[in-house]
Amino acid sequence: MNARETFGGGVAVITGAGAGIGAGLARHAHRLGMSLVLADVDAAAIATLREQLVADGGSAVDVVCDVRDPDAVAELAERTYRDVGPVRLLVNNAGIEQFGYLWDTPVANWNRVMDINVSGVFHGVRAFLPRMIAQPDPAWVWNLSSIGGVAAVPLQAPYIISKHAVLALTECLRLEVQLAGHDHIQVQAVLPGAVKSNIFEAAGGVENTRAGTDVEAAESQRAAMLDIKAGAMDPVEAAEVVFDQSARGEFYLLTQPDYVGSAMVERAQVLTTRVPPQLRTKPRFDATKH
Ligand SMILES: NC(=O)c1ccc[n+]([C@@H]2O[C@H](COP(=O)([O-])OP(=O)(O)OC[C@H]3O[C@@H](n4cnc5c(N)ncnc54)[C@H](O)[C@@H]3O)[C@@H](O)[C@H]2O)c1
Repeated sequence: MNARETFGGGVAVITGAGAGIGAGLARHAHRLGMSLVLADVDAAAIATLREQLVADGGSAVDVVCDVRDPDAVAELAERTYRDVGPVRLLVNNAGIEQFGYLWDTPVANWNRVMDINVSGVFHGVRAFLPRMIAQPDPAWVWNLSSIGGVAAVPLQAPYIISKHAVLALTECLRLEVQLAGHDHIQVQAVLPGAVKSNIFEAAGGVENTRAGTDVEAAESQRAAMLDIKAGAMDPVEAAEVVFDQSARGEFYLLTQPDYVGSAMVERAQVLTTRVPPQLRTKPRFDATKH
């Protein structure tokens, strides 16, 4: 079945739908004929997107929801099933970045990354999975990991750690769903490469509030990532690729299969040869290698 046959007519819930990848997924889901539940902390962004989708003949609601709050995510699930319908696709997408040496990272910034990127996904699973399991129709769960989920990158450690965690969470969840015999639930991991979004501008950094804190290193990493953004993929284009791979039943959904795939191969080689992680002399990203 293609993506339209698989997902058309169903309900998609997307966290972090107000910008970047989440908004791209919402726009493509709308094109496929899905009804959208747009969740984000940015009320204005999801209201604007909802208006655009509805004006284009779609069905969409916006729900302000902070994925750090388990009660808010439970309420999102409650409202979705009560007011919209059974969920065909849950996308645990909301995520943030963080730059700087790990030893310079403010505790609050570390907690924010873990609370949004890791606990946010867990809250989504806890709030929605029991209902999705209980419904008779097929349903999909996508969790946003990253190319960073199979890599080691200095000056972004909290983010990279969180994306390894989401990949492990998703792999474990897939096995648990199989173990429990819930064959109508597909769990899949999304590993974007470089997709145009606000994530690097919105990222936390370090502040020069302690002697010796290297603010310059943090900001130079932000600048390097913003350079990558120039050649990054359009989010709607990325969404189309991911929906197609999901409908084909793939587990690892890669926005740029060559680019992300090469990082997966490199990760496998590091582990099998036990060569320690090496510093790069030039960035991995090659915008021509999608
Ligand atoms: N853009 C890329 O190249 C890239 C690459 C790999 C992985 N990813 C992953 O894709 C996901 C989306 O990132 P993006 O690049 O589109 O970022 P983005 O900053 O453009 O969008 C993230 C959205 O999440 C929302 N958000 C932030 N905190 C939230 C919270 N607590 N609760 C609910 N919503 C919240 C923001 O308001 C924003 O609308 C993230 O998980 C990110 O790690 C992105």
